[in-house]
Formats: sequence, C-alpha cells, structure tokens
Amino acid sequence: MNARILPPGEEALAEAAAKLRAGELVGLPTETVYGLAADARNPTAVRRIFAAKGRPSDHPLIVHLPSVEHLPQWARDIPEEAWALARRFWPGPLTLVLMRRPEVPPEVTGGQETVALRVPAHPVALALLRAFGSGLAAPSANRFGRVSPTTAADVIEELGDQVALVLDGGPCPVGVESTILDLSRLDTVGPVILRPGAVGAEELAEVLGRPVAAADGGAPRVSGSLPSHYAPITPVRLAALGEIESLVSRLLAQGKRIALWSRHPLELPGVKWYEMPATLEDLARLLYARLRAFDRLGVDEIVIERPQGEGPLARAIADRLERAARGSGGR
Ligand code: TXA
Ligand code: MG
Repeated sequence: MNARILPPGEEALAEAAAKLRAGELVGLPTETVYGLAADARNPTAVRRIFAAKGRPSDHPLIVHLPSVEHLPQWARDIPEEAWALARRFWPGPLTLVLMRRPEVPPEVTGGQETVALRVPAHPVALALLRAFGSGLAAPSANRFGRVSPTTAADVIEELGDQVALVLDGGPCPVGVESTILDLSRLDTVGPVILRPGAVGAEELAEVLGRPVAAADGGAPRVSGSLPSHYAPITPVRLAALGEIESLVSRLLAQGKRIALWSRHPLELPGVKWYEMPATLEDLARLLYARLRAFDRLGVDEIVIERPQGEGPLARAIADRLERAARGSGGR
C-alpha cells in the first residue's frame, strides 16, 4: 500500500471520512501522539488495527469522540464524576474508562466490560471526528511495543505499508499519551490512574473531591503499562546527572559508541551529545522524536539523563523513559 500524507484541507478530511466509513484505516494527529484510526462501530475495521500494529487482540483501544455529548452512546451508568471530568478536561489528554454500552464491539474493548473514551484537543482530529460523526477507535500509530509517532512522517515510518492515508497535523503539541483514569470501579476501589499523562492526579482529585490512586503496575489491562514499552531498538540507559560521566566512561572502555541526551555537554570521542530541553513541556514534546532519531544513529547505547522536576509531565516522562529502558535492545 502506498501511504499518502495529506495536509488537512476540506477535501482531505472528506476523503479520510469516506475511507473510515469504508472500513479503512487513517493516520490521525492528536495533541498527544498520532493515532491509527478506524470506525469503532465496525468490527472488521477494528480488527485491521490489530493486524497493522501486530497488537495482541485482547489489548483494548481508546474510542475518540467528536464531543462530550457522544459519551452516552458508548458508556452506561455514567457517574456524575465522569461528567465533571469530561466537562473540565475535554477536549484534552484525558481518557476515561467507564462501563461500556452493550453495542460497543468486543473487538474495541478486548472483551472487557469497560470502554476507554476521550475527546482529543487537536483541530484536525476534531474536524475529522465531526466529519465522520461517530467514535473512532485509535491506538498510537506505531507497531506494538515501539515508540509512538509524533509526526506524520513517523506514522509512515512505522506503518507506511498498512495505512492508505495520514492526515498531517504537524508535530504533536503534548508528545506523550493521554492520562488514563479508570472510573469503572468507583464504588469499590475509587478512581485509579492506569497510565500517567499530562493531566495529573492532583487536578483530577480536585475536580473529584477525593484522592486518586496510581495503578500499581499489576494486571496489564493497559498495554502501555506493560513493563517494557515505548522502546527503541538501541539499548537505553537512564542515569542521574552525577552518574553520567562514570557510566559513559565505563561504556566507552567497552568500546561502545554512545548517544547522550543530557542538559550538559560531554565532549568525548565516541560520544554524540544532544542537548536535553530545559522545560518539561519541551522534553515531553520532543521525547519520542529524539528516541527515534537515536535509533537511526547506529550507536551501541543511548544514555539519557533522568529528568528532574515534579508534576504530571515529569511523572509521565519518567514512566515512558523507564519502560523504554526496560524494553529496548535486541528486538
Ligand atoms: O493519547 C492517547 O491516548 C493516544 C492518542 C492516539 O489518543 N492513544 C493511545 O492509544 O495511546 P494506545 O492504544 O496506544 O493506548 C491506549 C491504552 C492501552 O494501553 C489500552 O490497554 C488502554 O488504553 N485501554 C483501552 N481501553 C481500556 C479499558 N477498557 N480498560 C483499561 N485500559 C484500557
Ligand atoms: Mg500505544
């Protein structure tokens, strides 16, 4: 299949909507990462997503909605807390896990009784959702376990032979995937963050008026929460600022060629240094593009400074980097 990248004019949106109605896949920019979208009501189309990504079929997908008003078509027994969060954070990088309506195809939910829903805050995603008029199932548009794409060109690199059309919305402004909040067991376990993202526990707790727990990494109901994920092929090592020099020296002594991402330069033969952005916003935005670029360098090891800072983005970045470090190498 020859994938085409289209700037998102009216014609491109109409063509993309028509392809989705015909059960085909479309590469879609969102504010977090690019998604691989299919008609969420069409089980055949949804199965194509799993085939394209090489993703196990029991890993559920997020359904993207044109607006908050669509929520009752997908979820049942919607608690007032969900409405409050949707009103406050949608469109935006927050995914809510709720009890599903019986009509939601089991292909979307991995056979679970719950469904993950969000309204993305990207003008192109919203324009396509409105043109399409219903929910789009869309995981990140990468092969299973690999680094998520944050540009249209990244989607082609990952899935160019699997998708006919990618809408170009420019580089994703957030850069890490949405926060996933499980509200399906409010009465028993309360609200639980299954995956950290740009919307933090404190903001959520403030709206909910109760504390929000973070998942303990137990059952992998979220594929992005598998211990290894978001992984480049080159081995990734994380090091605190003070440990970088000794780690790099040790690797150099083993004859390794190294790419280093840190705030301070280290000019040594065999080391390619790239400056790490100073703000967490820039770091999140550039994280996946940087991991991709590192993989292309042909070095033996990637050394990344463990980012400092607090708050939701710091936690989301640390989460992705740790999984990248665990999952990288030899695959
Ligand atoms: O920012 C994002 O969320 C991006 C953009 C494209 O919207 N999407 C994304 O999709 O990251 P994906 O499939 O790569 O990750 C979605 C995660 C998966 O880890 C999946 O297991 C989890 O959401 N998920 C989906 N439905 C679920 C459910 N019913 N219960 C628990 N987790 C669920
Ligand atoms: Mg993903």
